[in-house]
Amino acid sequence: MEQKDKKVLCIGLVCLDIISVVDKYPEEDTDSRCVSQRWQRGGNASNSCTVLSLLGSSCAFMGSLCAGPVARSHDPLQCKAPVLLHVRKLHHSLKLLPLMADRRLRSYVVQNVPDVTAEDFSKVELRHFKWIHWEGRNVDEQLKMIQQVARHNAALPWQQRITISVEIEKPREPLYELFAYGDVVFVSKDVARHLGFHTPQSALEGLRCRVKVGAVLICAWAEKGADALAPDGLFIHSDAFPPERLIDTLGAGDTFNAAVIHKLSNGARLEEALTFGCRVAGGKCGFHGYGGIADMVTRQE
Ligand code: FRU
Repeated sequence: MEQKDKKVLCIGLVCLDIISVVDKYPEEDTDSRCVSQRWQRGGNASNSCTVLSLLGSSCAFMGSLCAGPVARSHDPLQCKAPVLLHVRKLHHSLKLLPLMADRRLRSYVVQNVPDVTAEDFSKVELRHFKWIHWEGRNVDEQLKMIQQVARHNAALPWQQRITISVEIEKPREPLYELFAYGDVVFVSKDVARHLGFHTPQSALEGLRCRVKVGAVLICAWAEKGADALAPDGLFIHSDAFPPERLIDTLGAGDTFNAAVIHKLSNGARLEEALTFGCRVAGGKCGFHGYGGIADMVTRQE
């Protein structure tokens, strides 16, 4: 299979986001009436998959799902399809991986559903993928999965290797182990601040010793845009592209990651990918959900 025909796989959370739109941010211990409410499939890896699909990347999602009322519930993005069907439909090129059949949907209400394990992952046919993205969660298992990919890659010429990206979004110490394993590492503003950095540039300077030689380290910083450390050690910056009116920032980071991965996995240069990431993530904040992304990108082209 040629590299260009292979998919991007995102591994992490799928959940149900129940979004209540209110006139102003509610004060504690007060009642407020919602202007509207919607249910939307969420979770970082799942959102990134949505955006990758909308941008035209062929992609797949791997995560834990459970049966039950939430999975069967109304999902406005895909006309009353259950969440499971929604995942299947949106990523139509994806055959749901076998592990999903007996797993539970991680949802708004159901907790303690096991994350994907290295054993689950060993069933994935790696030859279908050119890029695998992990949302940092159950690190021990994720490191074993990454090792499986490294072994797979070792037997291949570099042009056919799978690129490994990781997202370190939550300020949790165990997740920081992932820094050393990504070809592309996305570190959040939250983590950077938690580690004592006040700007994206200082975060990259301070965290570059944690990534492997030749890796790309990317730090998006909302209104300050995003910065990246390139494999040659140079720093790159893109300004933010804020919308005229800020409407919905939920999933903006996932959108940024997906837009960067979309570009890089199609051979774009890092500068271009970073600017595109900021553009798409900024634009996304100007409308509810993700549906407007495809139109927005078409208009810009
Ligand atoms: C956005 C998001 C939501 C989800 C939450 C999980 O980045 O993925 O869709 O509710 O974060 O942390």
